[in-house]
Amino acid sequence: MSEGKEWSYKEAIEKASSSICRFPLIHVKGVPLMCHIANNWDSISAFVPDPADLLIATYPKAGTTWTQEIVDLLFHNGDAEACKRAPTPVRSPFLEICSPPPIPSGLDLLNKMDPPRVIKTHLPFQLVPSGFWENKCKAIYVARNAKDNLVSYYYFDLMNKTQPEPGPFDGYIHKFMQGELSWGSWYDHVKGYWLEKEKNNILYLFYEDMKENPRREVERIMKYLDLTVSDEVITKIVELTSFKNMKENPMANYSCIPSPVFDQSISPFMRKGEVGDWKNHFTPEQSKIFDEDYEKQMKGVSIPFRSLI
Ligand code: A3P
Repeated sequence: MSEGKEWSYKEAIEKASSSICRFPLIHVKGVPLMCHIANNWDSISAFVPDPADLLIATYPKAGTTWTQEIVDLLFHNGDAEACKRAPTPVRSPFLEICSPPPIPSGLDLLNKMDPPRVIKTHLPFQLVPSGFWENKCKAIYVARNAKDNLVSYYYFDLMNKTQPEPGPFDGYIHKFMQGELSWGSWYDHVKGYWLEKEKNNILYLFYEDMKENPRREVERIMKYLDLTVSDEVITKIVELTSFKNMKENPMANYSCIPSPVFDQSISPFMRKGEVGDWKNHFTPEQSKIFDEDYEKQMKGVSIPFRSLI
């Protein structure tokens, strides 16, 4: 599979549609992961990146796709056409993803690309292949406030037919608090990268900052990547990566994944793109229970989340 126009990603997924189901989770070093990932764990963890590769790491639904698009546009000097060469998961492969054949795994895609590659992962810090840190790869981490992250993940689990059934929202809140969702605990995830960011030169971003001032955050990413693009190009990148434009962009809105896998009639991948949507979902009682547990789980680590926005 090349990254060019002849990509057959969608066709491969269509062919595998009959073997798609809500895959069970298997724990890898205490972290629940989709069974196909767990079953291929040895080859995933042995992956050795090139020092020029960039890692974009997030807990699911924290703003991964948005960041991937910004980075791709920065690397292509804001050239929108160049960034429509293929859908997001082909341009910027998902390191650990494994699905039934003939869907290419993240490793299949990466092995056919030349560095520098932009690699997505949802793995918590301790499961990221050590080669990323040994080779001093750059890494961008994006964190999103817990309650909005949870709501976004809930809708995603409703529409993504490869993830376990989310069940009722109240039960989902408890699964989130207990770290029982795919890729494990949100709390451990955001803390893990936070505690390693200085030592491993990780750029730690917040979804809420990107919403508040996208230009400022695009410039931060540009500087971190040692790129120089003009003010006009920055303006263009901010515009091209607005929620509205990405929602309409078939190469960024995951319409490349057919409906038996991502049923966007249940909930679109580009759902709302807002800060504070949790207020439309949590009851005051649920919010209180969540906040009390949050205090305990985040004790001793002061990450400047803006959860109450
Ligand atoms: P919502 O479900 O709250 O709308 P990920 O890419 O990590 O899976 O994250 C998906 C979340 O980021 C979704 O959140 C999606 O709408 C939001 N998102 C994607 N692109 C965005 C953009 N350009 N601006 C704001 N939010 C965006």
